[in-house]
Order: sequence, then C-alpha cells, then structure tokens
Amino acid sequence: MATKWGICSAGKISHDFMVGLETLPAEDHQAVAVAARDLKCAKDFADTHKIPKVYGSYEELAKDPDIDVVYVGVLHTVHRDVVLMFLENRKNVLCEKPLAMNSAEVGEMISAAGKNNVFLMEAFWSRFFPVYEQIRSLLRQDAIGEVKVVRAEFGYSLCDVPRAVERELGGGALLDIGCYCLQFALMAFNGEKPESVTAKGFLHETGVDETVSIILQYPRKRQAILTSTIVTTLPNQAAITGTKGNIQIPSLMWCPTSLIVNGKETQFPLPPTTKNIHFINSTGLSYEAEHVRQCLLKGLKESPVMSWEDSKLLVSIMDEIRKQIGVTYPQDQV
Ligand SMILES: NC(=O)c1ccc[n+]([C@@H]2O[C@H](COP(=O)([O-])OP(=O)(O)OC[C@H]3O[C@@H](n4cnc5c(N)ncnc54)[C@H](OP(=O)(O)O)[C@@H]3O)[C@@H](O)[C@H]2O)c1
Repeated sequence: MATKWGICSAGKISHDFMVGLETLPAEDHQAVAVAARDLKCAKDFADTHKIPKVYGSYEELAKDPDIDVVYVGVLHTVHRDVVLMFLENRKNVLCEKPLAMNSAEVGEMISAAGKNNVFLMEAFWSRFFPVYEQIRSLLRQDAIGEVKVVRAEFGYSLCDVPRAVERELGGGALLDIGCYCLQFALMAFNGEKPESVTAKGFLHETGVDETVSIILQYPRKRQAILTSTIVTTLPNQAAITGTKGNIQIPSLMWCPTSLIVNGKETQFPLPPTTKNIHFINSTGLSYEAEHVRQCLLKGLKESPVMSWEDSKLLVSIMDEIRKQIGVTYPQDQV
C-alpha cells in the first residue's frame, strides 16, 4: 500500500519535495492532498504535481482522514503552530529543518507527538543520502578509529533572500544552513552531547547572524569546528578524522554525491529528474521520504536516524550559540 502524503504549503521546498517524491515508485508514495494559505496557490501546485485534493487552509488538511503523513514545508517561524495542529489531529509529520525556533518550541512539539502517539521527524534530508548512510556504516565498523576532529562548512550568498536575513522570517546563517554543519558533527560523534560550545560571529544589519563559527569540545580531546555564512560561497566541504583514517565530503556537505575515504573517492548518483528544482540536488529529498515510509510501516513514532533526542540536542546547542553571538527571535520572548 502506498504511503499517502499531505503537503502543507505550496512554497519552494514543498515543490522540490514533490519532485523528489515523483522519482519514487507510485505504488509506494502518493501525494493525495495539498494545502496552502491561498487556495489559488494550492490549486496551481496541485496542477503542477497532479495532486487530487486541494485545500485553502492547513486546518482542512489536518481534518482529512485519508492522509498517512503530512510534509510541513512552511517557514520555520511557524513550524511550531502548524505542526502542533497536525499532531493534535493525530497526523504523522515530517517537518522541514530547523524543527522550530528554540528548545521550548521543539520540546512542546515532541511532547505533543508523544501524547498523540504519532510520528514526528525533523527533515534533515542529508542524513538519508547514501553518502551519509555510508559514513554511519564506516563509523559503526570503526573504520577510521576514534573520531578526533570533525570539520564542516556551509556558506552561500543569501543576503538577497528575505527569508535568510529577516529576523521576523527566522533568518540567519545558523538556523538556515549552519544547522546542517551541526547535525553533521552530532552524527559523527554519535549523538554525544559536547562538554562545551564556543561560538563567534558577525551580525547582519537585521540582527541575525550572517557568519558564525562554532567549536564543540568533547572529552578525550575531541573537537568539531564548524563555519556557516550567508554572505559568500564556501567550499562547502566536511571531514571526519579519526585515529586510523579520514572521511571527506569533497563538496555540498548537506546533499553530497561523492565520498572520499582514506583518499579513495566513490560516487553516489542522485535520482534523475527533468523537472525544475529550486535547490541543488533536491531529488535527494526522496531518500528521507522513503525513510519515513519505512518508519511508518514499522509503526515507529520517531526515526532511529534523526531521533527526538537528536533534534533536542541540536536545538539546545543552537540556543547556546545564539546566546553567545547575540541573536534572538520574537519566539524567544514567550
Ligand atoms: N531541506 C532543504 O533543502 C530546504 C531548503 C530550503 C528551505 N528549507 C526549509 O523549508 C522551509 C521553507 O523554506 P522555503 O524556501 O520553501 O520558503 P518559502 O518558499 O519562502 O515559503 C514556504 C511557505 O511558507 C509559508 N509562508 C511564507 N511566508 C510566510 C509568513 N510570513 N508567515 C507564515 N507562513 C509563511 C507559505 O505557505 P503557503 O504556500 O501556504 O502560503 C510558503 O509557501 C524553511 O523552514 C527552510 O528552513 C529546507
């Protein structure tokens, strides 16, 4: 039986998610409804992606009994409110990253998923790429020994994108793209909580962070060094170095198609598409969609690859980084 998806919002990432979903077998995945704040936008989206049901409000989607799981692609400033509504209507949810604006919001969402006995996952699509699967497999096999140093960087010139710079839209390098570096480091250290977090950064004129560098320190002299910026394009590489070897992602650390292990490179081609996409390598969104299907088939309420604890740890570190560099959002004031 196909997993029946409801799509919440007709924005850019929702479009790319659909393109990813369309690369998967129709007998496994079907988008059965889309909701947007404006019915016309939802209709246009439904026409593009051949989705049978259309709603002009998220509430109507939440009441649709024929949905297995909702993909939430709204701005992160409203993730909390929108996701809580779906969870309270007993809908399973895959919610775009970052799961919410701060620890308090993430805590509420995870409690609501538990209380309503439904699935919730933060959509860190990177973790489901074959490159990331391969990295976890190598780490499990102790292929590079004890992990000592993790490096990651994600930088793009995004200062002309309102969503990336406006404080009211949840802008800032950390929440938009730095979170990818952080989730990479946390995965490399197997979900371990760092013993210290140190961050330095520069703020944009809107008060959000435009460049931020972070050092996570772990016991036994282990470290992660992470940089993220919205002012320029970085090489966008990542590396994990252990006592016996190293693993490198040569580029696009958040959506990689190649991996170098002790100098030997292997390619991992993406599912192809002829459709237009907004974000690079977006057909790789199909990997997380298939992972969600497998979790639901097993009756899981959280993903073993991107667990509730992973989301909680990640956002608690982001809160600390923001405290150190002086970035706050209206959501922090409640
Ligand atoms: N996984 C990835 O690679 C990836 C890439 C980009 C973004 N993202 C994440 O996906 C989310 C959306 O990003 P996007 O680039 O798709 O953004 P977007 O196209 O600008 O907006 C997405 C949707 O958010 C809703 N929205 C827009 N402005 C709003 C406002 N002022 N108040 C309330 N809702 C508003 C709209 O829903 P309606 O259609 O209902 O009007 C819009 O279609 C963000 O959380 C972002 O971090 C993930």
